[in-house]
Amino acid sequence: MFSPDIITKFQQHETPFYYYDLDLLQRTLKACTNAADNYGYHVHYALKANFNPKVLQTVQAAGLGADCVSGNEVLAAIEHGFDRNKVVFAGVGKSDKEINAALDADIFCFNVESVQEMEVINDLAAAKGKTARVAIRINPNVDAHTHHNITTGLEENKFGINTWQLDDVVFTLGNCKNLEFLGVHFHVGSQITNLDVFEKLCVRVNELHEWFEAKGLFIKVLNVGGGLGVDYYNPDKDPICDFAGYFKIFKDHLVVKEGQEVHFELGRALVAQSASLISRVLYVKNGQKKNFLILDAGMTELIRPMLYEAYHHIQNLTKGDNDATVIYDVVGPICESTDRFRTDVALPRSHRGDLIAVRTAGAYGEVMASGYNLRDRVQSVYNDID
Ligand code: LLP
Repeated sequence: MFSPDIITKFQQHETPFYYYDLDLLQRTLKACTNAADNYGYHVHYALKANFNPKVLQTVQAAGLGADCVSGNEVLAAIEHGFDRNKVVFAGVGKSDKEINAALDADIFCFNVESVQEMEVINDLAAAKGKTARVAIRINPNVDAHTHHNITTGLEENKFGINTWQLDDVVFTLGNCKNLEFLGVHFHVGSQITNLDVFEKLCVRVNELHEWFEAKGLFIKVLNVGGGLGVDYYNPDKDPICDFAGYFKIFKDHLVVKEGQEVHFELGRALVAQSASLISRVLYVKNGQKKNFLILDAGMTELIRPMLYEAYHHIQNLTKGDNDATVIYDVVGPICESTDRFRTDVALPRSHRGDLIAVRTAGAYGEVMASGYNLRDRVQSVYNDID
């Protein structure tokens, strides 16, 4: 929702830019931590969703941990004041350099994704005379029922260790004197809106939990990943996710024993609704079959529609809702036919210079921007905009 005052301020700004509502972000974080605290759950913020410095400061101030997928994310988390005892490092292809950086930073835990990676971390830790804490990322073979490009928990995906390799994991743990086994880690996919998926995940985690116990290994950390989806269709309806409902699924279905901790890694649900991509109409092309709105933002600023056929709500901020509606294909300026935000969008009749908001762009938006076509780096503005 944009006040007339903020729209006037947008008019004075060069476009495109990401607009961040840090108040909404704070309220979202508070809702999440309040709901998690009810059950003593630990929440790590998945930096990959958005590592804008002000976003990181706000998340850190709310007391969350950090879920990182590169050495640079680990360093960024620590630079922004995240407690190193709350930093986890996941990723299917950690380089030696990144592992060494995380060992030097004494992070809480590596989420390991293969037996070979366990051996490499063990060797690198041994060379430093250190012990690396590890959680085993297991592929639970649970279908997330989300877009196939953001599904991660199926046996055909590259992520995690498949269950038939777990004997090998236990054997390797026995040989790796510089690894401390902390527990298990799962993540089945992103933008999950069918909450039954999380219930199914709990059932699998309970089974695997028993399996490890039977092998005499105590699980301290049950990390169930992230993936909670947001409403891209109605960004103003309930901009803050139902965190209480989400955590209750785990409370009701996950077996947690004395001395165990439950960890989450949420990205999208924490940041998505707090930002919009603001752009201007450069040209209006009226054709016989199609009308095009050509914006000054494109796939270089927000690639989700082009990469995952993702829906983002599009609004003309300059025209009122009572203006006559026209059907447009809303496209960007990049020299690619796929540089298209959406086809057949009903918008008030639009003109060159109108401000257009592409909503729910706070997660996997700015961080996935690129310099293709030698575009300028996209700017960010915040709700304290002058
Ligand atoms: N943990 C792990 C191991 C992950 O791989 C991810 C996301 C998360 C946590 C956070 O998931 P979230 O709560 O944000 O769903 N670029 C795509 C999404 C890629 C998600 C990658 N992994 C998009 O724009 O939809």
